[in-house]
Amino acid sequence: MSETAKIEIDGKSYEFPVITGSENEKAIDIKTLRATSGCITIDPGFKNTGSTTSAITFLDGEKGILRYRGYPIEQLAEKASFLEVAYLLIYGELPNKSELDSFQESITKHTLVHEDMKQFFEAYPAKAHPMGVLASMICSLSTFYPESQDPNRPKAAIDLTMHRLIAKLPTLAAMSYKNAMRHPFVYPKNDLGYCENFLNMMFAMPTEDYTPDPVVSEALNTLLILHADHEQNCSASTVRIVGSSQANLYASISAGVSALWGPLHGGANQAVIEMLDKIQNDGGDLDKWIAKAKDKDDPFRLMGFGHRVYKNFDPRAKIIKKACDDVLNKLGVNDPTLDIAKKLEKVALEDEYFVKRGLYPNVDFYSGIIYRALNIPTEMFTVMFALGRLPGWIAQWKEMVENKEPIGRPRQIYTGANERDYVSIDKR
Ligand code: CMC
Repeated sequence: MSETAKIEIDGKSYEFPVITGSENEKAIDIKTLRATSGCITIDPGFKNTGSTTSAITFLDGEKGILRYRGYPIEQLAEKASFLEVAYLLIYGELPNKSELDSFQESITKHTLVHEDMKQFFEAYPAKAHPMGVLASMICSLSTFYPESQDPNRPKAAIDLTMHRLIAKLPTLAAMSYKNAMRHPFVYPKNDLGYCENFLNMMFAMPTEDYTPDPVVSEALNTLLILHADHEQNCSASTVRIVGSSQANLYASISAGVSALWGPLHGGANQAVIEMLDKIQNDGGDLDKWIAKAKDKDDPFRLMGFGHRVYKNFDPRAKIIKKACDDVLNKLGVNDPTLDIAKKLEKVALEDEYFVKRGLYPNVDFYSGIIYRALNIPTEMFTVMFALGRLPGWIAQWKEMVENKEPIGRPRQIYTGANERDYVSIDKR
């Protein structure tokens, strides 16, 4: 017998089906609640609301579990390549050799962006934040591929758009950096791997290639995998909701980039490093900053701490912390910020305020330190997150389309003025 849940409103009882996921997560399906009872549910920030069923990513915040299509993040981070993980997220299964080869070939073939886009870059001020530039450039891609606006395109055409995005995002990201430096752009080199090509476009000059230390490209591969998807978070939900209006994929991903930018989401990696630098420059008095984070009248929060779903530990933070130590050791980097980070982590983890609220370091607490060791400028950190998250956004968009999900349109409880008559300006 299938499970049901009863809700009683004004003495009248309504029954709803309970749906169970493959990991036994349960949800009350309240689709008919309004039609039968006249009530809606309210849940600001959707803290307890499932917006969809999804077969992409499973996470259990209490147990610190994260799996893409069933595969534990620990195994993927250790053994897979980023493009393999991208294929897994988008198409549902790990690719075999020939599938991976043709996916890689397709991505490699589309790394160039149209020459006209160079002029867009040149029009931005040197201090333009690369996330603003990236979001605009991704949306601009739709103008070069107007056929992407047709929601009823054949599968092969949709695949091509997805591959174009994965191919061009590193090029656009590196161009935004080069432009900010007022350095000449470096074109993609198709004989390089995904990570190596990005690093070359970032750090080579037209006169000289850049060959990264394998530790650097491996660390980048790991970071991209760790960020590749995280189920229905702010940016993924944004991508799905924008896409649900049948806006094209470029526009939907561009909206996801904008959602990611904020310091409470992907922008936290930049905010963490800025915070650590500030603490250090201020003399390194950790007790002072911990007290500020706990003070409800002080807007300061410990960036890189806390997570909407992880209340014990963030499994990505565990992997990244180790990667961070490896990179710094192998590159011989001595970053005093890391000492501050380690001390801050220890103090916070022993403080009752953080323990009681389940506030632990999240993935962004350490990612910035690695990016800095790789010479990625602070303002580019969230762009790096976007590079990693792209396959996840694409997979979320594709699933939303394939599920034939209706346009996203929440309801509200109105708390404004009741009906009143217009008053002419001389009588107000
Ligand atoms: N420093 C100090 N207090 C905090 C922090 C923090 N970083 N995070 C949460 N709290 C407190 C908060 O004040 C609240 O206290 P109280 O119960 O007394 O009112 C309690 O902990 C619960 O916080 P919340 O804001 O209701 O929790 P949330 O689930 O809405 O927010 C969060 C999650 C990630 C936005 C929040 O923890 C935060 O702002 N963290 C810092 C920003 C950050 O690191 N963001 C990156 C998240 S990981 C990357 C990603 O996946 O996007």
